Amino acid sequence: MLKPNGNYRNLKDSYLFFGISKKVEAYRKAHPDLPLYRLGIGDVSRPLCDEAIKALHAAVNDQADARTFRGYTPECGIPEFRQAAAGYYARRGVRLDPEEVFVSSGASDELGDILDLFDASSPALITQPAYPAYVDASVMAGRKVSFLNAGPENDFLPLPGEDTEADLIYLCSPNNPTGAVYSREQLQAWVDYANRRGAVILFDAAYEAFIEEDLPHSIFEIPGAENCAVEICSLSKTAGFTGTRLGYTVIPKALERDGMNLNAMWVRNRTTKTNGISYILQKAGIAVFSDAGLRQIQENIQIYKENARVLMRALDGAGIRYWGGKNAPYIWMACPDGMKSWDFFDLLLNEIQVIGTPGEGFGACGEGFFRLSSFGDPEDTRIAAERIRSLIVNR
Ligand code: MLT
Repeated sequence: MLKPNGNYRNLKDSYLFFGISKKVEAYRKAHPDLPLYRLGIGDVSRPLCDEAIKALHAAVNDQADARTFRGYTPECGIPEFRQAAAGYYARRGVRLDPEEVFVSSGASDELGDILDLFDASSPALITQPAYPAYVDASVMAGRKVSFLNAGPENDFLPLPGEDTEADLIYLCSPNNPTGAVYSREQLQAWVDYANRRGAVILFDAAYEAFIEEDLPHSIFEIPGAENCAVEICSLSKTAGFTGTRLGYTVIPKALERDGMNLNAMWVRNRTTKTNGISYILQKAGIAVFSDAGLRQIQENIQIYKENARVLMRALDGAGIRYWGGKNAPYIWMACPDGMKSWDFFDLLLNEIQVIGTPGEGFGACGEGFFRLSSFGDPEDTRIAAERIRSLIVNR
C-alpha cells in the first residue's frame, strides 16, 4: 500500500494564518454587522503601481496578437526580468550576473521549493520567533530543525555562538515577525560562521524595501556571502504582488558544496519542475524595477510606514513596549499585563474587532508578544490603533 508522507504527522494541526482566518470567519458569521479591522496577515491594501498596471495591460495585448504572442517563457526567468532584478541590486553596489537571478512565484513558495537543493539529513537552524513556513516546510521534508532564540535580551537579533550547530540557516532581515534588522557587522558574523562551517544561509529579504536606516538590504552586501548564501526576494510586500505572485531568488554562481554547484542545480531543478512564470507578470516586474516604478512603489511603502507610525504612537500612548515598525512593516509588541498572546488575540477580536497575530504562532519564544501589520487601509489602521490604545488604558 502507498505510504503517505509521515512527516505531516509532525506538523501543527493547521498553518498559522489559515487557522486565524478560520477563527475570524467564524466571528464574522456570528457578528455580521460589526466591521473588522485587519492588522493580521501581512497582506497589502494598496493597488499595484501605475507602471506595473500599464505593463500588465500591454503584455495582455501582446498575448492577443500573433506577432507578439508568447508561449512558454524560459524556466529561470525572461532575460529582461533577470537583467532588471540584477540592475536593482546594482543600485546598491551589489554586482550580480543576471543568470544568478531566478524568477519565482513568490517567497513563500520558493522557501519550500528551494529545500530540494539540500539533503534532508542536513539539519536546519531557524531563529525564533520565525515565519512559520520555514519550520513547516522543513518538517514536511523530514528535516531536523533546531532553534536559536531571539528576544529583548539580544534585540531579537541572535548571532551564532561557539556551540551553534547548523547546516542550513534561515535568516530573515528585516525580520518577520519582530521587525528587527541585522547590521553589517552582525550579518558578517553569520557569513563568516557559515563559510567556516560549510553551511548555507537562506536569507529572506522580502521586507528589504522598508529599511530606512543605513542597514544592509541584501546579504550580498556582505563580503563572502557569495560563497555561502541564497537570497529569497519577493515583489509581494514591496510592490503589492501578494495576489499576482512574483518574486526572485539569487543563487551565486560561486556557491558550491561538496563539489556541486547550487546555481547549476537550481537551473536543473527549475527546467524540470516548472515551465516558467507568466510572461505577463514578468513584464509587470520589469516595470517595477524601472526608475518610475521604483518611485511609485516607494509612495505606497510610505503609506504603510505612516500606518506603522500611527500604531506606534497608539502603543506609546498606552505605555506598551514594542519593537520594529521603523525599518519593517511589522510592529512586535509586548502583550499588556503579561497576557498570553492567544488570549490577547481573542480580547482584541471580541472586544474591539481588531485582528492581529499572536506571537506564539511564530514559535514558543513568541509567547507574550503580538504582531501588528501596517499593510492595512490607513483609515482602518487609524481606527484600530485608537481602539487598541483605549482598550489597554481603560482595562
Ligand atoms: C505574514 O503575515 O507573515 C505574511 O504575509 C505571510 C506571507 O507572506 O506568506
